[in-house]
Amino acid sequence: MYFLSAYFVGFCFLPFIPLMSSCRSNHVLDGCGHAVLITGCDSGFGHHLARCLDQKGFVVFAGCLSPGGAGAQSLVRQSSSNLKILKLDVTRDEDLQQAKKMVQENLPEKGLWAVVSNAGISDWAEIEWSTIEDFQKMVDVNLFGSIRTSIAFLPLVHASKGRMVFVSSIFSFFYCLNMGAYSVSKRGLEAFADCLRVEMASFGVKVSIIQPGNFGQATNILKRKTALDIWNKLDDEKKRIFGREYIDLANDYFTSTCRVGFKDTDPVIAAMLHAVTSARPKHRYLLVSTMEMFFFSIFPFLPTLLADAVFSLSSMYRCRKEMLYAKRDPQNSYL
Ligand SMILES: NC(=O)c1ccc[n+]([C@@H]2O[C@H](COP(=O)([O-])OP(=O)(O)OC[C@H]3O[C@@H](n4cnc5c(N)ncnc54)[C@H](OP(=O)(O)O)[C@@H]3O)[C@@H](O)[C@H]2O)c1
Repeated sequence: MYFLSAYFVGFCFLPFIPLMSSCRSNHVLDGCGHAVLITGCDSGFGHHLARCLDQKGFVVFAGCLSPGGAGAQSLVRQSSSNLKILKLDVTRDEDLQQAKKMVQENLPEKGLWAVVSNAGISDWAEIEWSTIEDFQKMVDVNLFGSIRTSIAFLPLVHASKGRMVFVSSIFSFFYCLNMGAYSVSKRGLEAFADCLRVEMASFGVKVSIIQPGNFGQATNILKRKTALDIWNKLDDEKKRIFGREYIDLANDYFTSTCRVGFKDTDPVIAAMLHAVTSARPKHRYLLVSTMEMFFFSIFPFLPTLLADAVFSLSSMYRCRKEMLYAKRDPQNSYL
C-alpha cells in the first residue's frame, strides 16, 4: 500500500494535500447536558473517545463487550461519574434493548446527542481460504452491529437533531488482497450510512463516516495469526493450489504491513470529536498519512481497469502471480 502512495505522490500533488485533509474546526458544542453513546469502548478508538468526551463534559454511555474486563475498568477509573459503562455486544438484540432502557433512564436534560458506532473486528484471509462463517461473523459485528445500534437509538438522536457517526475504514473502497470479508462489511456500512444521511437530512440529524487507514499499532484491532493457523484451515485441494511457501509469504507480507502505520489514535479521535461537536461536520473523514492522502483520495474515482492495474505495481502482487502461476497444471491450456 505504501509503495502505491509514494508512487502517486511523486507526481508533485503535495500542494493539494492540506486542502483535502483539513478539518474545518469551528467546534460549537460543549458537552454540558448532552449525552453520547459509543460502542466498542473496551479498547482502541472507542476507549479513547469515551475518555475525551467525558473530559469535555458529555454524559458518556460507553458500550463495552466485557464490562468487567480490564478496558472497561480502566475507563471507570480514569473518568468522571458522568461516564456509564453499558454491557453491549452489538450482535445481541437483548443487549441493545437493555442498553436503550438504561440510556433512557439516565438521559441528561438535552438528551442523546450522538451515537458513535465504533465496535468492530478485523481479520485477513484470501477469499478462497475463507468460509461463509468467516464472512457472517465479520458482517454481524461490523455491519449488522451498527445497523442494530442505529435502529435502537435513532429515535433519541432524531429527537435531539443530533449526530450519527460510523467508523468505517479505507477498505470500504480500497479493495486489495486478503481484505475480502472486512471490505464487504465496511462497504455495506457506508451504504447504510449514506442512505441514512439522505433520510435524516430532512430532520436535521447529521451523519458522518470515519475512514481510518492503518492504525493497527495504536489499537487492538489486529488479531495476530501465524502461517500455520492459515495452513491448518485449508483443505488438501487448497493446500495444493497455494502451497506452504506462498502462505508463509502472505503471512510475512501482512505482518510487515502491520508494523507500519500510525502509532497513536490522535488523528482519528480528532475526527470523531469534530463529527460529534462541530457545527459543520464532514460527511467523510479520511485518516491516512500525508504520503497516502492523494492516492486514497483518487482511488475511489479511478476507472476499474486503472484501479486494478495499480496492483501490478506491487512487488507482492507480482511475486504472488509468479508463485501461483508456477504451480500451474501443464494440462490447462488457458494458463
Ligand atoms: N485500527 C485500525 O487500523 C482501524 C482502521 C480502520 C478502521 N478501524 C475500525 O475502527 C473501529 C474500532 O477499532 P479499533 O481499531 O479501535 O480496535 P479495537 O481496539 O479492537 O476496538 C474495537 C472494540 O470493539 C469491541 N468489540 C468487538 N466485537 C464487539 C461486539 N460484538 N460488540 C461490541 N463491541 C465489540 C472490542 O472489544 P474487545 O476488545 O473485547 O474485543 C473493542 O473494544 C472498528 O470498527 C474498526 O474496524 C480500525
